[in-house]
Amino acid sequence: MNEVLKTLKSRRSIRAYLPDQISDEELQAILEAGIYAPTAHNDQPWHFTVIQNKEKLQYISAKSKELMAESKIEWIKNMGLNTKVNILYNAPTLIIVSGKKDAVAPKVDCSAAIENMLIAAESLNIGSVWLGLVTFFFQLEDEMKNLDIPEGYEPYYGVAFGYKASEKNLTAPKRNLDVINYIK
Ligand SMILES: Cc1cc2nc3c(=O)[nH]c(=O)nc-3n(C[C@H](O)[C@H](O)[C@H](O)COP(=O)(O)O)c2cc1C
Repeated sequence: MNEVLKTLKSRRSIRAYLPDQISDEELQAILEAGIYAPTAHNDQPWHFTVIQNKEKLQYISAKSKELMAESKIEWIKNMGLNTKVNILYNAPTLIIVSGKKDAVAPKVDCSAAIENMLIAAESLNIGSVWLGLVTFFFQLEDEMKNLDIPEGYEPYYGVAFGYKASEKNLTAPKRNLDVINYIK
């Protein structure tokens, strides 16, 4: 199998990280991969906020959890209340991906950028996980003002990056393969 296909299949969501920071070269390679994703109308309607401050990252997890604890959805509430949970899995880098609200398909474009970054990270043997739960933090308008996201952009997702705590290959969650039809 070629290297790209191997990387696509071996990427897993990583939920345990070493405390060491990834190198700036690795970070730049990951960001560049994001920026090379396809976009509707070639809008390139994204902004990437890179957060590598340990206290800030702990704070984002703690604040997200406060809101999660009030959720009506049981598993989200339980995660919010669980003192052992860090929703960023103590990863040393968080990238928040925001989209330009008036672009043609900003959320789709940002999602393409995220996937490119996940694959780039895996190709460098860097762990990553796409984070929806950090959107709880995005609800806190006053907190978000401190992140300098440009006017007209909306934060969609976070992605955590860091060196994997374990080199053991994780098994992929079972894929449902019965999702294709062919018309020839
Ligand atoms: C939109 C989106 C949001 C996600 N949010 C989270 C999250 O908040 N926390 C988490 O641990 N994983 C999150 N994931 C990762 C999924 O749980 C994971 O991709 C899925 O279980 C398949 O596992 P794999 O990534 O190892 O193939 C998210 C994935 C996507 C696409």
